[in-house]
Amino acid sequence: MTIHHQSDVLIIGSGAAGLSCALRLSPHFTINLLCKSELSEGSTYYAQGGIAAVLDNADSVDSHVRDTMNAGAGLCDEEAVRYTVENSRNAIQWLIDKGVSFSRENKADSNDYHLTQEGGHSHRRIIHSADATGKEVQTTLSSLVQDEKNIRLFENYNAVDLITSHKLGLIGHDNRCLGAYALSRSNDQVEVFAAKFVVLATGGASKVYLYTSNPDVSSGDGIAMAWRSGCRVANMEFNQFHPTCLFHSKAHSFLITEALRGEGALLKLPDGERFMPRFDKRAELAPRDIVARAIDHEIKRLGIDCVYLDISHKADDFIKSHFPTIYQRLLNLNIDITKQPIPVVPAAHYTCGGIVVDTDARTDIVNLFAVGEVAHTGLHGANRMASNSLLECLVYARAAANEILAQKNETHPAMTTLPSWDESQVSNSDEEVVVSHNWHELRHLMWNYVGIVRTTKRLERAQRRIQLLKEEVKEYYSNFKVSSNLLELRNLLTVAELIIECAIRRKESRGLHYTLDYPEASKQLKDTIISKLD
Ligand code: FAD
Ligand code: SIN
Repeated sequence: MTIHHQSDVLIIGSGAAGLSCALRLSPHFTINLLCKSELSEGSTYYAQGGIAAVLDNADSVDSHVRDTMNAGAGLCDEEAVRYTVENSRNAIQWLIDKGVSFSRENKADSNDYHLTQEGGHSHRRIIHSADATGKEVQTTLSSLVQDEKNIRLFENYNAVDLITSHKLGLIGHDNRCLGAYALSRSNDQVEVFAAKFVVLATGGASKVYLYTSNPDVSSGDGIAMAWRSGCRVANMEFNQFHPTCLFHSKAHSFLITEALRGEGALLKLPDGERFMPRFDKRAELAPRDIVARAIDHEIKRLGIDCVYLDISHKADDFIKSHFPTIYQRLLNLNIDITKQPIPVVPAAHYTCGGIVVDTDARTDIVNLFAVGEVAHTGLHGANRMASNSLLECLVYARAAANEILAQKNETHPAMTTLPSWDESQVSNSDEEVVVSHNWHELRHLMWNYVGIVRTTKRLERAQRRIQLLKEEVKEYYSNFKVSSNLLELRNLLTVAELIIECAIRRKESRGLHYTLDYPEASKQLKDTIISKLD
């Protein structure tokens, strides 16, 4: 028997976006909050550098807006940028009011917050909790959510698909979101979650690449679900590669925060030569696309495995107090960063594109909202500036909550009983290994053909192979009971297809999208917006 749940709001995702939206709504609504793994597992928990905000009197909204637009290589939507930056101070205040603790200046005469520096920022404006900002935000908000009476948590629930009026054949009305199906990972049953409002806060899709700074949950599920339901998706070609992830056989996915470069760390070749000044006058603090491409270029030119990030010229105490997590983690791997340089390589880090939303976080489907990395608000353009992501999560979670609150007293169509998940035609799979092979093939393919430097030929080759993988997975999906691995693979294939489609459509190089076939930026500024109806 299928289990049916009902609430006013269904939030899918428990990172900064999902949790802050839930906390803003909970006194007024009943909320079911789903997450695919444990409550704290998501990119938010691993965020290091901090949150960009206009907090210093010498800084200004205009300056933060200008820096964001410059990093975004001309494609940011100025209205979205201004809206986000103007709300940055109150977003940080909200976190402080909720109990989030940020690092202070280490000066006897000052109790001010310490603001660090990162690439693309012309001011120190990154508020942080040493080098583990995400952990502080995530654990504080997680414990608040656990205490809220109106919020019911469903950990280890994998949302499968949205339920919309059009999917149920209720034509004649606008397409409305009515809820979602989700697979309980503890009992392998698909359950029904009905709600008046649904918020997608499922994070990004960097797991589509072989090497990534992201945790396993970042498999683009929200983008794929919204796309299948008819939402437009934009700018998926702009995959951000973080320049400095640790290169070490015993530590995958470990990021070395950009704040290290902000505080003076230098990028060097194996012989100790600095190379960034050859690529950009801002050197190590150029925007990420430029630094990642420069590293990729040097690695390929010299046939080396990695480059080195060196902060050993700074005082030991400074390094240990500003970067305690990184210092300890690397010491455990026998790298003493107060004395030695850190081996680093670029890795997939952030999905700049996503589901098209407006400044109220509304998608194309009535009562479906998208917040955080899953969404395309227009803030990031062709390249996200460091530490603008957590800010976007907080600002748009508030916007979505306000919009939902504004509709509190509106009459909604009576909730119909949603159909149960139909498993009558499927059997248990005896070939899960096929899923893991296909998953592996996809991530290699994306890394090799759709990475930092692209060509049309490579993109088309990847596109053909993905079609074959999609057909195999479709057959698998139709015949066997769903599993988490199968659901993620299906979503990653959809996301890969969207990335390649957007990349092929962009006949220029801009920001994070660099192609040898069109190395120059075009004079025309245009988002790549795609729709199933195209
Ligand atoms: P996440 O925090 O990724 O949360 C996603 C949630 O969705 C999880 O709860 C997951 O379980 C759930 N989910 C996903 N799919 C499903 C499904 N199918 N069903 C149910 N639940 C699902 N940004 C900054 O601004 N500053 C930084 O310093 C910074 N440092 C970073 C360091 C690292 C290592 C990484 C990986 C990212 C960093 N970023 C940083 C980026 C930033 O952390 C993320 O963009 C942001 O945290 C995304 O938050 P989110 O709430 O959108 O998603
Ligand atoms: C970092 O700390 O380098 C990551 C910051 C970000 O992704 O915004």
